[in-house]
Amino acid sequence: MKRLGILLSGRGSNFEAIADSVEAGKIDASIGLVISNRAEARGLERARERGLKALCIPSRGLDREVYDRLLIEELRRENIDLVCLAGYMRLLSAAFIREYPLRILNIHPSLLPAFPGLDAQHQAVDYGVKISGCTVHFVDEHLDAGPIILQAAVPVLDSDTAGTLSERILKEEHRIYPEAIQIVLSGNFEIRGRQVILERSL
Ligand code: GAR
Repeated sequence: MKRLGILLSGRGSNFEAIADSVEAGKIDASIGLVISNRAEARGLERARERGLKALCIPSRGLDREVYDRLLIEELRRENIDLVCLAGYMRLLSAAFIREYPLRILNIHPSLLPAFPGLDAQHQAVDYGVKISGCTVHFVDEHLDAGPIILQAAVPVLDSDTAGTLSERILKEEHRIYPEAIQIVLSGNFEIRGRQVILERSL
């Protein structure tokens, strides 16, 4: 059975959606390890409540390469096959990405390539777009840029604040992230250039 490693920095609601899908048998894998770079991350507590191995490796003051080497050590120790970033608010080094080629996924709260980086929902409201959403993609060496696996669109209402839009997008995140993980685990896709072609359309 494949083993997932989850990296997070905060609340951990995407981690919980993944863990629920694992428990429900909708994701054919187990969660081998949850790592947070912040001790106060609620996601760590949630992982421990579920009886999962959950570690804090504080990132403060550490050089990116040095920190990522610590991450790789722990992920290797647990024989992790697929790394899922779930609200992990740090960039990964090139060495980390080389260690897990096409085996790192991220969820981002916008329709990429629109609004990469921080506060994507705020950026969407400020820009005045009528539709935003979320994206699950492979992680490459550029910020929020790797090949896209799944996206979901969410309307932006005139009355939206970044907060209300975030809530609506989050529901879709919890739906498409587990689905994308299962697609990648199943291997039923092909990558052509930037395109991820899913089995159902091959
Ligand atoms: C989610 O909205 C996720 O898409 C976003 O952080 C939130 C984490 O929530 N990630 C990014 O912005 C990455 N650039 P969670 O901790 O409840 O899953």
